[in-house]
Amino acid sequence: MNVHATALASTPLVDQKNTTFAQDVIAGLTQQPKRLSPKYFYDEAGSRLFEQITLLPEYYPTRTELRILRDRGADIAAAIPPGAALVEFGAGATTKVRLLLNESTFGAYVPVDISGDFLNGQAAALRRDYPNLAVYPVTADFTKPFALPDAVKDMPKVGFFPGSTIGNFDPHEACAFLRSAREILGEGAILIVGVDLEKDERVLHDAYNDTAGITGKFNLNVLVRINRELGGNFDLSAFTHRAIYNRERHRIEMHLVSLKSQTIRVLGRAVSFRAGESIHTESSYKYSIERFIALARDSGWGSRATWTDPSDMFSAHALIAERA
Ligand code: AVI
Repeated sequence: MNVHATALASTPLVDQKNTTFAQDVIAGLTQQPKRLSPKYFYDEAGSRLFEQITLLPEYYPTRTELRILRDRGADIAAAIPPGAALVEFGAGATTKVRLLLNESTFGAYVPVDISGDFLNGQAAALRRDYPNLAVYPVTADFTKPFALPDAVKDMPKVGFFPGSTIGNFDPHEACAFLRSAREILGEGAILIVGVDLEKDERVLHDAYNDTAGITGKFNLNVLVRINRELGGNFDLSAFTHRAIYNRERHRIEMHLVSLKSQTIRVLGRAVSFRAGESIHTESSYKYSIERFIALARDSGWGSRATWTDPSDMFSAHALIAERA
């Protein structure tokens, strides 16, 4: 997920204008309401801030999912065919995948991520700790179709998509991702996916409005990134973090709210804000178990098993790819 910020910082402005990041930022800031994709949070500083978020007392998802993977490891292993290729969509901390690797015998591990450097570091650590495991990193945008390495073609496939990252997709995007994963992994494959659950709104509110202010820094970091990589002139003290629960849409929305009427410049374009106007930077959808299983069904996956923690805060699903 880490992007090579230093390399981009020294690129002339004319080249910067042609990056997908630049095009998405201009398109997002010139539409109404303004929005930016959450995928742009994760430069080096943003990835570090996210790691800090996962340790916050208010941010329950990471430790709750880890608890499910630990406590239900034997049941999860029972859903996994021996000798399977484990394909992880996105590469983050290796803590979660290690729990699967410790419980089952896999034929290979295939981490897939857009950042090759990050992937290779992760692959090296796993090769050291699991010397008998074949590791085949694939550098690709995992939301789009990509080819699996030839070496795993004949192995059964198990996909792994933890962290409720699927919750950061709008439902039609989640459906498109699940269909694409179904295509890549093939009929009969298993997908282990972590999904955050609907719950008391105060708990949700606090998880995205921590008292230490780390989530606010994480949110504002996207403006830091625009300033550095696209020559923007956002004044960070003129924007504030806001996270609210949208009950009708079952999602936490993160916004950056302009504290005054102002005009900023980015890539030679002027962008005006009214006082109180916001940029919608992230949605984090919360599912009931039934609504998630229905979404999976509509996307070519049947439900094989679901596990939750004792307080029903978070869920892990084993899905099975149905005949197309
Ligand atoms: C990565 N993703 C599942 C996190 C979430 O909870 O939606 C990102 C995050 N945003 C604010 N805090 C954490």
